[in-house]
Amino acid sequence: MPDAASRKVLLTGASGVLGRFLAVELASRYPGLVLTDILPFPGEVPEGARFVQADLADAEKIAKVAEGADTIIHFGGVAVEKSFETILPGNIVGTVNVFEAARVNRARVIFASSNHTIGFYERGKKLSVRDRPRPDGFYGVSKLFAEDVGSFYFDKFGIESVHIRIGSAIREPTEIRHLSTWFSYPDLLRMVIAAIEAEKTGHALLWGVSANTRSWWGEDDAARIGYRAEDNAEAFADKVAADPDDPVARRFQGGSFTSQGYGRAPEGKS
Ligand SMILES: NC(=O)c1ccc[n+]([C@@H]2O[C@H](COP(=O)([O-])OP(=O)(O)OC[C@H]3O[C@@H](n4cnc5c(N)ncnc54)[C@H](O)[C@@H]3O)[C@@H](O)[C@H]2O)c1
Repeated sequence: MPDAASRKVLLTGASGVLGRFLAVELASRYPGLVLTDILPFPGEVPEGARFVQADLADAEKIAKVAEGADTIIHFGGVAVEKSFETILPGNIVGTVNVFEAARVNRARVIFASSNHTIGFYERGKKLSVRDRPRPDGFYGVSKLFAEDVGSFYFDKFGIESVHIRIGSAIREPTEIRHLSTWFSYPDLLRMVIAAIEAEKTGHALLWGVSANTRSWWGEDDAARIGYRAEDNAEAFADKVAADPDDPVARRFQGGSFTSQGYGRAPEGKS
């Protein structure tokens, strides 16, 4: 890997909420940053970066956008629970297109995975990234697909990837669940930079969460890439509202995603 300043970085999902934050923060650190999204970039493209509009499902376009990249930060795709047909092009086909481009360019992939890979664990259960996944929808399944594509591309081709299972990446926690799942913007940025600049990562799985007193997520590969969380949602404990009045969402770590279309009888009933 070249030294930090000469990294050739591509960011997918650049027009999204987290993408726009990362675009601004990374543009000054990595000159020549390339931004891409299916939607136009809202507002001015940060100085030192350039934007290319492209659909992740378009293999040819993604191959072209990724030419010369040594790092691909892959944050693009459908970011909420939807039908399988809606998830398929961006999250499944798109992820394969990104890893193929990474293979051709020998690039490292940093992927925005999600807590919805494990959403059906009960709240309070402390998890390791080695625990069996329990996705709470097609969205969560698509994130596991990407984690596994990363594993396959590392074992077969030596392509490294860092998969960040993001909890709740928002400016401030607003409800009780966030006291466990909050991932501050500064911690997100620190983790992405550590993942870009680590000498070696192999295939790494990380919890995208701050150092929250009430976190449910423990063992992961953060130390291996030289990252330590600094923020703690507990500082907002007096300000947050109660979680929505939804017994299924209140029971499981994935919150409201778990109760969408939930079809099981209440506990104890057949
Ligand atoms: N915000 C969070 O707390 C959170 C939590 C877990 C995971 N994540 C993941 O982090 C990433 C960024 O999240 P966000 O909150 O900024 O979501 P977002 O919806 O604001 O951004 C996603 C971007 O992907 C783009 N996109 C969708 N389909 C595309 C396609 N086919 N081709 C090209 N671009 C496409 C969208 O236009 C959008 O700009 C997502 O992958 C999301 O799943 C976010």
